[in-house]
Amino acid sequence: MNKILLSTSILSANFSILGQEIKNVLKFGADMIHFDVMDNHYVPNLTFGPMVLKSIRNYNILNPIDVHIMAKPVDNLIPLFAQAGADFITIHPESTYHLNRTLNIIKDNGCKVGVAINPALSIDFIDDIIEKLDLVLIMSVDPGFSNQEFMTNTFKKINLIKKKVILSKRKIYISVDGGIKLNHINFLLKSGVNILVIGSYIFNNDPKFIIKKIKNLIFKFNKIKK
Ligand code: DX5
Ligand code: ZN
Repeated sequence: MNKILLSTSILSANFSILGQEIKNVLKFGADMIHFDVMDNHYVPNLTFGPMVLKSIRNYNILNPIDVHIMAKPVDNLIPLFAQAGADFITIHPESTYHLNRTLNIIKDNGCKVGVAINPALSIDFIDDIIEKLDLVLIMSVDPGFSNQEFMTNTFKKINLIKKKVILSKRKIYISVDGGIKLNHINFLLKSGVNILVIGSYIFNNDPKFIIKKIKNLIFKFNKIKK
């Protein structure tokens, strides 16, 4: 779990040239792609489905993709995204009546299992499912939109989750998603985050320059940590 990964959320990409936008950020140094699925029911926004993921894979984009499903119901979507090429599938506990069963469906479809925790959701439920998890997605914004303000109470939540992950002795990625800008990164790294999910800060500026700055901060942090 040493390598700290940059996962670019494509919600702020230019969808008319999505494949090229993704190839660019990967070329500039992004490690993963964060694919935000929204259904205008669980969240008040609508994005893309498994066909778009499939076309990204057909465009020869092979890096890990974390499919963040903000949709309810969710169970029936899991096999579709797994077949379309998801590596991780991350769901919200509020989007299913039976969280244990839904996490089993993700695993049975050959994907790594992620659970997303909204800012107002207590983390207590994690204890009962931590043995199933490969990733915890800590939402630093309310889900549904990019370009929102990072919620600073996230840091407290990261520390609580970090303790649970260490106790579990499992290899579980701690990922933070929403509103992340350069000034948040050092604090996030010190808190023990493994994956930084960043969208608008990259795509709304000069992606090459911003990704370079982010990767530099990660490099410096790793150097000091050694
Ligand atoms: C919000 C999504 C996030 C968001 C991140 O519901 O889950 O992935 O798109 O984008 P920024 O970095 O713009 O907040
Ligand atoms: Zn997301």
